[in-house]
Amino acid sequence: MVLYFTGTGNSRFVAERIASSTGDTAVNISKYIKEHTHPMFTDTGVYVFVAPCYVSTTAMAMFDFINDATFPEGIRAYFVITSAAYMGAAPATNAYLSKKKGFEYMGTENIIMPQNYITHFKTKTKEENQKIVSDSLPAIDRLSSLIRSGKSFKPAKLFFGELALTNAACAIYYKLFMNTRKFHVTDRCISCRKCVRDCPLGNISFDGSRPVWGKNCTHCMACINLCPRSAIEYGRSTQGKERYRGPMADPHE
Ligand SMILES: Cc1cc2nc3c(=O)[nH]c(=O)nc-3n(C[C@H](O)[C@H](O)[C@H](O)COP(=O)(O)O)c2cc1C
Ligand code: SF4
Ligand code: SF4
Repeated sequence: MVLYFTGTGNSRFVAERIASSTGDTAVNISKYIKEHTHPMFTDTGVYVFVAPCYVSTTAMAMFDFINDATFPEGIRAYFVITSAAYMGAAPATNAYLSKKKGFEYMGTENIIMPQNYITHFKTKTKEENQKIVSDSLPAIDRLSSLIRSGKSFKPAKLFFGELALTNAACAIYYKLFMNTRKFHVTDRCISCRKCVRDCPLGNISFDGSRPVWGKNCTHCMACINLCPRSAIEYGRSTQGKERYRGPMADPHE
């Protein structure tokens, strides 16, 4: 089974390509998060967890999901992280989680995908992003082949103290910066409610004709990037900035 978390579709794209190559099903964990359910999986085979890198490690939404769900003892667990540059301490985080859950840890690999953190970084052109996605295909297929043949991913190298440093940075960043205070909607909004559907945490509701953000945000960037009217802004940092639409037409359909 391939379980994925995604904001703008990079991780779904990777998860589906792996699933189609390994004859598996790709499942979006957002449905469990939105329902506030902790699933109990019974399949004793191989699990592939695909998630974006946030703040130099596995996105917390995926970490929490795995931590809270139930899996059969000893399942083989592969982790595939999508990042714009570097997956940081994700291998150590995933190895720790696997040990805690009683998984057989098969390793963590990074697939470089386009940067989606548009509130903090420049967006590349559409052509540059398309090239990043097409360049990722051989790497994704190499991982699929390792998974199919039951081989481990290669062990990752981390610098001394990287996990402890990352955990400290994450704790601060999630607490102080991953909030919705700066999100607002402009007159371009046509009240289509796509942002409500796209939020993988179910954090957006509607008040009359406009979206309203709740408190449970992980800065996945789905709402702001996927709004068809570019009607969502984050303070002034996104004004006039190209949105990143992702590699799939509608990653939350
Ligand atoms: C909150 C946030 C934090 C991020 N942190 C990192 C990071 O530490 N390193 C990195 O290379 N990319 C980082 N990125 C970029 C994403 O990992 C990358 O674009 C990913 O492929 C997005 O996946 P998705 O489309 O499935 O949501 C970050 C993106 C977001 C939204
Ligand atoms: S997706 Fe954009 S246009 Fe549609 S309701 Fe949300 S903010 Fe408005
Ligand atoms: S509110 Fe927007 S940025 Fe926050 S989790 Fe939902 S879709 Fe992602």
